[in-house]
Amino acid sequence: MTEIADIAKLLKEAQAELKAVADKAAQEQFKSRWLGRKGAFSLLLRGVKDLPPEKRKEFGAKANQARENLQAAFEKIGAAKDDEAAAPEFDYTLPGRAPQLGKRHVLTQVTNEIVRIFYGMGFEVADGPEIELDYYNFSALNFPPDHPARDMQDTFFLDGDYVLRTHTSPVQVRVFEKRRPPVRILAPGRSYRNEAINARSYCMFHQVEGFYADTDVSFADLKGVLIAFAEQFFGSEAKLRFRPSFFPFTEPSTEVDVSCLLCGGTGCRLCKDEGWLEILGAGMIDPEVFRAVEYDPERISGFAFGMGIERLAMMKYRIDDIRLFFENDLRFLAQF
Ligand code: DAH
Repeated sequence: MTEIADIAKLLKEAQAELKAVADKAAQEQFKSRWLGRKGAFSLLLRGVKDLPPEKRKEFGAKANQARENLQAAFEKIGAAKDDEAAAPEFDYTLPGRAPQLGKRHVLTQVTNEIVRIFYGMGFEVADGPEIELDYYNFSALNFPPDHPARDMQDTFFLDGDYVLRTHTSPVQVRVFEKRRPPVRILAPGRSYRNEAINARSYCMFHQVEGFYADTDVSFADLKGVLIAFAEQFFGSEAKLRFRPSFFPFTEPSTEVDVSCLLCGGTGCRLCKDEGWLEILGAGMIDPEVFRAVEYDPERISGFAFGMGIERLAMMKYRIDDIRLFFENDLRFLAQF
């Protein structure tokens, strides 16, 4: 082993062997065979002194370089093997980590359920803007200017003639303006009221507006549709109670209660011992609304209703604080 070419040969051989090193024992063996004090490269270097003087310098430098390369490659492999040894063995008995799947917000789920039920009765879905003209939110719905009925709803007023819509009823007017009867529409969406925030009220909430205009629509149709809805949404035991009420855009007007879902009507904490829970406002569309959209109230009649989606969700799932819907706490949302 006195030729420079031999150094490269030796290094090649060592590198090939290093590739096959698979465990600690083989590592030790490799180290002493190639890199140790009595290893092949040490012997090679020791032989330098026996070479002719003009060869020594180059041979020594090359041999040293080769040894260093091998040492570096060996250390790299050793470190990787150590990492593997430190990692615990894979434990097949551990429970798997379930992937976190997103799902629809409970209010979206309830909205979709309502839409599905009314879809089965021939209602289409429509929507309207949340930033709404005073005209659509109030005037066209027969709220006269300065009429106290406007105070029924605490309004967020915007610049110009705009408000944040206080209910979904303006969608009635927008749809009637564009379409001729028969129209049968469901309009879910956000509404806003300038109310103090507490467990029962929030500055933003969701409503579903439903309305039907055609020749010969009667109050009996309204009752039939709402009763069919309640049976599907709450269950076949649910009973409805219609109370006379007032809305500027319906005549006659009614507020509708459902028999308490918890006690069935005998009185409990959920219904505050009433036996009934209010779910919506409704009525026969006022002739003034039809006039505003140039429908002939002598020929066309219709009903409308509006319900609070949070309210329905709170009843269905016994949720006692409306703020939970908007805090987006996953511990709450994951339950539905
Ligand atoms: N817009 C009313 C409210 O927010 C609810 C309502 C009552 C809607 C009667 C209607 C209706 O369509 O006919 O208080």
